[in-house]
Amino acid sequence: MFRESVRRFANDVVAPKVREMDENEMMDPKVIEGLFERGLMGIEIPSELGGAESSFTSAILTIEELAKIDPSVSVMCDVHNTLVNTVVRKYGTKEQQEKYLPLLAQSKLGSFCLSEAASGSDAFALQTRAKKEGNYWNINGSKMWITNSYEAEIFLIFANIDPSKGYKGITCFLATRDMGIQIAKKEEKLGIRASSTCTLNFDDLKVPEENVIGGEGKGYKIAIEILNEGRIGIAAQMVGLAQGAFDKAVPYTYQRHQFGQPVGTFQGMAFSIAQAAIDLEAARLMTYNAARRRDEGKPFTKEAAMAKYFASVVAQKVSGQAIEWAGGIGFTRETGIEKFWRDSKIGAIYEGTSNIQLQTIARFIQKEYS
Ligand code: CAA
Ligand code: FAD
Repeated sequence: MFRESVRRFANDVVAPKVREMDENEMMDPKVIEGLFERGLMGIEIPSELGGAESSFTSAILTIEELAKIDPSVSVMCDVHNTLVNTVVRKYGTKEQQEKYLPLLAQSKLGSFCLSEAASGSDAFALQTRAKKEGNYWNINGSKMWITNSYEAEIFLIFANIDPSKGYKGITCFLATRDMGIQIAKKEEKLGIRASSTCTLNFDDLKVPEENVIGGEGKGYKIAIEILNEGRIGIAAQMVGLAQGAFDKAVPYTYQRHQFGQPVGTFQGMAFSIAQAAIDLEAARLMTYNAARRRDEGKPFTKEAAMAKYFASVVAQKVSGQAIEWAGGIGFTRETGIEKFWRDSKIGAIYEGTSNIQLQTIARFIQKEYS
């Protein structure tokens, strides 16, 4: 039922806007409003704080369903639920939760601000600094690549309060746009073009002392532990994306005739479609397995890294093949298949590149076998 209701929203509200949003590189505010109205922006937030009080797996299904129609809308919902909401829900004090979770569940979009120009994979080398001055923290620095930040009202900012401690000085701060967040640049991208990605400058940004989340120096652990979960969300986005491309291209192969028969019935085509279906099934099951482990409180970091790595390979492969199955028409903007392929490239980059996932998996294997 849950999946069905997300699917209806994606088909009725998002689908008619996908091409325009991609071409204008702008998220339609009605889509954001619609996600909030349907309870899809507070999936795991308790009901007494205005959320849907559902499971992580429900969030994963939502991200997957949205990605079948538009991976940009999917990542907006993903970052908001699996990164921003989860940090406040897991590490926020009771007061912080009561103040911010109702806003996050019902109307205010969130951003997760970790990466900087000189620290992407090496995220803990961040240069943004926070200094205590009276009863507030003064933040100076800059963040790059921040998803949702053009539209967001709530920002989780990772800054170092004591560089002499290395990454153990990294602290998580919750800031709101009205505190003075400035957008320095909005990126023009290959894919997920409706999802905003901006550089933010913090010039003496004053954040009240009570807005430290999870304690001073705890930010690095919060960031990576949340990213371990978030990576399952990106795997789900990639599974949905691959399915979306498959769903558009495969029916066409049974309608299109060449040499007197549907092109999808030539063995070369049929086997390629069958292989893609196998890859998709494997990626989906890996993603659901990681989500199930997370919901059951079992270790899931290795499984999440594997799912993200594999699903992003499958997304690129299947969406690329889908263009070829459709022939020339697949290469045009008319069918929307090429957009899935453009969108698929990001899966191997954000929330830890594919090499970072391999490194994470390799460390587990080494620990287990040495
Ligand atoms: N889970 C839990 N803890 C981890 C961990 C993991 N996967 N990886 C490292 N750590 C911990 C270590 O245990 C250690 O902590 P302690 O000192 O308390 O034991 C600490 O982190 C440092 O460990 P390392 O020296 O091994 O780590 P590193 O400095 O080499 O790299 C890392 C750590 C920055 C987390 C890196 O592995 C990584 O994941 N880089 C990618 C960053 C990333 O994912 N950015 C995403 C930004 S958000 C985003 O992208 C959103 C979006 O697009 C939609
Ligand atoms: P680099 O770290 O410079 O990597 C370049 C290449 O070197 C990659 O192929 C990488 O795999 C490889 N490499 C680096 N280190 C190693 C190593 N140790 N071993 C092997 N290979 C290595 N960040 C946020 O904080 N919040 C967001 O909301 C957010 N949204 C994003 C949205 C988009 C569209 C994009 C493009 C990025 C976003 N990011 C966000 C940033 C993203 O997480 C980083 O781009 C990513 O972690 C990679 O960092 P980098 O771009 O600096 O690449």
